Amino acid sequence: MKTIVARILSLNDAAMAEAADIIKNGGLVALPTETVYGLGANALDEAACAKVYAVKGRPSDNPLIMHISDVAMLDSIAKNVPPMAEKLIQTFWPGPLTVILQRKNVPRGTFLDTVAVRMPKNPIALRLIDLAKTPIAAPSANLSGRPSPTTAGHVLRDLSGKIDMILDGGPCEVGLESTVIDCSGDGAPVILRPGSVTREMIEGLIGPVGMATEAAKDEAPKSPGMKYRHYAPEAKLTVVVGEAEKVRAKIQSLATDTEKIGIMATAESAYYYKHKNVLIMGDSHEAIAANLFDMLRLCDEMGLEEVFVEGVAEEGLGVAIMNRLKKAASYNILKV
Ligand code: TXA
Ligand code: MG
Repeated sequence: MKTIVARILSLNDAAMAEAADIIKNGGLVALPTETVYGLGANALDEAACAKVYAVKGRPSDNPLIMHISDVAMLDSIAKNVPPMAEKLIQTFWPGPLTVILQRKNVPRGTFLDTVAVRMPKNPIALRLIDLAKTPIAAPSANLSGRPSPTTAGHVLRDLSGKIDMILDGGPCEVGLESTVIDCSGDGAPVILRPGSVTREMIEGLIGPVGMATEAAKDEAPKSPGMKYRHYAPEAKLTVVVGEAEKVRAKIQSLATDTEKIGIMATAESAYYYKHKNVLIMGDSHEAIAANLFDMLRLCDEMGLEEVFVEGVAEEGLGVAIMNRLKKAASYNILKV
């Protein structure tokens, strides 16, 4: 199959209607969202969703997020939406917050008793859902285990020839996947995956919420996706955390200057390193989040064998950045 790539500069582009037809006919379209690119299929078409799993190499017990373009669509897929979830939805949708609710009417095969739903904040994604007239199931559009794609080029690299179409809407604004919060139970909601809607923002609205910790090896994790290795480049990754000056000194001493070692540094400290392969992550949490997955992919393109990454403060968006970095490093963390 030849994957069509369409750069979308106007929502009236004929490619939008073409993409909607592909979804309606059970095909796969990669679409931009504000977080990362998604691999979209008709969420109510079990065969189309099965293709998503096959193409990504995704474990079958890891359910997909449903993307909707209108809160009214929620009625067709979820039930018993609790007041706290209503509040979150009113405040953060459209936006990078996925809410887990009790499931209704969604094909059984790929889903639990609950369903993950979000309304993305990207006009191309919203228009596509409108035109397709169905919720769109979309996991991140990467091969399973690879960093999530934040550009159409990333998607093409992983899925070229395996999917019908890619809608290129330029680089994603946020760069990290949505915050996932479980509101399906009776107790306080629990954040299953940190994202750019931070715990502070959520608690400011609805009071204390739980935060899922990584599940122990043989315990069932709350969010099936939590148990799989993610975002990993080929290189051995070490996240170095601590006071900035000490972190720099440690990395200086460990990164003997060869062709095969790389350093991912904040804009502030990139200047201090004299190494050849210093990747500048950015000068704010927002910038680092937007660059992170691209840089992890770049490490592979550069053929690096070992990479040292400066950790960031675990507050606000820093929690989500460190969550992805720790997973990418398979929890290889060095405290100085
Ligand atoms: O920002 C995002 O969320 C992106 C864009 C494309 O929307 N999508 C995304 O999907 O990151 P994916 O499939 O890569 O991650 C979805 C996460 C997984 O960790 C999955 O296990 C969890 O959400 N999840 C999905 N349905 C769930 C459910 N019913 N209960 C608990 N966790 C669920
Ligand atoms: Mg993913």
